[in-house]
Amino acid sequence: MNAPTIRLWDPVVRLFHWSLAGAFLANYFFTEEGENWHRWFGYYAVAWLVVRLVWGFVGTPAARWADFWPSRARLSEHLRALISGQPYHRLGHSPLGALVMILMMALMLGLGVTGFLMEEVDYFWGADLPLQIHELCANGLMALVGLHIAAALFESYRLRENLPLSMVTGRRRKLSEH
Ligand code: HEM
Ligand code: HEM
Repeated sequence: MNAPTIRLWDPVVRLFHWSLAGAFLANYFFTEEGENWHRWFGYYAVAWLVVRLVWGFVGTPAARWADFWPSRARLSEHLRALISGQPYHRLGHSPLGALVMILMMALMLGLGVTGFLMEEVDYFWGADLPLQIHELCANGLMALVGLHIAAALFESYRLRENLPLSMVTGRRRKLSEH
């Protein structure tokens, strides 16, 4: 039996997501540090950050910052549900998911800025600090990505719905009436 689904994530959100994931993993594991591919993957990801920032104001309803901004009230509601073992089911980002999303975007921006300083600004040539911050951002982002993937799988199990697939097809199951 196929449950009815609705279109939730528009193509911009999905392209943004897999571009960010691909560029991050490529640079963390495969490209030569600081070389051409590394730089271009990094700038590609930063360009998507800008697109996504704007899309959060003009895009489809579930893509908008206002829809999922993790305010204190939303975060505490989500935390309470988590602590009491209730699944938190909504068609869109959960508050804690959104918080992690924003932190991941900030660290990606940090990677772009420190990479730019190391590569393009003579003043920082050979300086230690940008590299240290770059490394910190890369490892911090890797930790958040681990948490993000674990949470996506955990919530998929609890909701009996394939959330990663929704970032591919854009579709989510309709909420059933309780
Ligand atoms: C590897 C680096 C990754 C990064 C940096 C990343 C980052 C993000 C960001 C920024 C969003 C918000 C999307 C938006 O609203 O525009 C998001 C959502 C999401 N990501 Fe990832 N992601 C990564 C990998 C993955 C992987 C491997 C999976 C699959 C297991 C995954 C599953 C999801 C899901 C299911 C959502 C939507 C969550 C929801 O329903 O609220 N992500 N991710
Ligand atoms: C997706 C974004 C990025 C990721 C995940 C990433 C990741 C990394 C990692 C893990 C290292 C090794 C740090 C260490 O030595 O411990 C590194 C080094 C470096 N990255 Fe990136 N980076 C990104 C973007 C950029 C950008 C946009 C630039 C430049 C425009 C850049 C330039 C460099 C340079 C110059 C080094 C140091 C090479 C050396 O050891 O001298 N990175 N990066």
